[in-house]
Amino acid sequence: MAEGGKPMRLWGGRFEGGPADALTRLSVSVQFDWRLAPYDLLASRAHARVLHQAGLLTADELERMIGALDDLDRACKAGEFRPTVADEDVHTALERGLLERLGSLGGKLRAGRSRNDQVATDLRLYLRDHVRHIVSRLVELETALMSQAEEHASTAAPGMTHLQHAQPVSFGHQLLAHVHPLARDVDRLRDWDRRAAVSPLGAGALAGSSLPLDPQAVAEELGFTSAAANSMDAVADRDFAAEFLFCAAMIGIHLSRLGEEIVLWASQEFHWIEMDDAYSTGSSIMPQKKNPDVAELARGKSGRLIGDLTALLTTLKGLPLTYNRDLQEDKEPVFDAVDTLLLVLPAVSGLVATMRVNTARLETSAPDGFALATDLAELLVRKGVPFRDAHEAVGHLVVWCQVNDTTFERLTEEDLAKISPHFAPGAGGLTGPDGEELPGALEVLNVQGALASRKAYGGTAPAQVRNQLLTLRETVDGQAAWASGS
Ligand code: ARG
Repeated sequence: MAEGGKPMRLWGGRFEGGPADALTRLSVSVQFDWRLAPYDLLASRAHARVLHQAGLLTADELERMIGALDDLDRACKAGEFRPTVADEDVHTALERGLLERLGSLGGKLRAGRSRNDQVATDLRLYLRDHVRHIVSRLVELETALMSQAEEHASTAAPGMTHLQHAQPVSFGHQLLAHVHPLARDVDRLRDWDRRAAVSPLGAGALAGSSLPLDPQAVAEELGFTSAAANSMDAVADRDFAAEFLFCAAMIGIHLSRLGEEIVLWASQEFHWIEMDDAYSTGSSIMPQKKNPDVAELARGKSGRLIGDLTALLTTLKGLPLTYNRDLQEDKEPVFDAVDTLLLVLPAVSGLVATMRVNTARLETSAPDGFALATDLAELLVRKGVPFRDAHEAVGHLVVWCQVNDTTFERLTEEDLAKISPHFAPGAGGLTGPDGEELPGALEVLNVQGALASRKAYGGTAPAQVRNQLLTLRETVDGQAAWASGS
């Protein structure tokens, strides 16, 4: 930021002395709210037009005003016009830029608006724009997960509860289980956008304006669905920021859970995946190391996203109506959350897109830990055995295997018959109640069969996973279109 010249203030009229340095340092926000400049300029153009419609700017003045705002926009983008430490905030800096270009005509734009409705408008515009960028990045991550899922729809993997082998699943199914939360995040952001599409401009400081302005026309020009129905609520409300931060924190939590899984998968103990060199890091002392820092940072960054939400909620709690300077504290958490997501999401997408799945390792460990026990118990149920008895019989079988240091895969018919008569090939008949042919006990002890049998909607059968993928792809295409405004 440039050295400050003469301090530029929008409120000096009734003061005799200047502000103390300590006050100036405390109240200045331009170092972080400068990023609202393009949105402030958009809102200024819309405001200039309603001032003209209200007869408060001549056609010639409007033209010069719009010309100057366009030029200021260009100069900001080119880095020619920069805020100085003497500008209190983005609105002050831009008014200085306008005065430099237009002289006293520049001072007409402030009529009928206040920084209170301006800043609330700018932040909504900024967020509605950035939410679309965030959704595009989420779509990329969903797409990376879906491509891996497609490739591994029939790869069997150990499915876990309590981080213990539970039942085999399709690894594609597990990957898609990370897409659904992200798809809900996008849905939540789109829903958020509907509520955020309300324009505060026209509320002025808090009570509206005595000038004949048209808040609905401004709202429409800025892409909002309507103007705020209550000027006091318009300047006091930061629900849209808090709600966005909740959405961001939730995304953070989803990335953190995915990150944690990837950390596990990449460990020597799991060895389910191999991370690409481009998305892993080394150690400064241990030459052999390949570390999952991307996944860890994804996990770690969720802490600050939750912190951003907590910070804003704490600021908002107990504020009386309407605008209070506390509200200036809304911006840094919001910007931090946006920056964090835009930083983390592409890295996680790259990590997922480039990781190599160790299919052989997944498939051999899928049945480990007697993961087919439920399949066996369910076979007995289909033969008419009450589940309670089936559960007990299979439990005995597990203990027997452990005592005899063997696994389900190595069992013979004779072993089974020793444990429980229910396991005998003909026990309970070879057909179920509906006459369907039932497999033998040894036949259900196979992983691909176990996967394929879970073929009801939502189950892990590869065919069902492929159906799930088709629906998800359609959903994600819709999300991508929304983000790009088509
Ligand atoms: N920089 C201020 C903010 O971010 C702008 C509004 C200041 N309004 C006021 N009445 N002091 O909230």
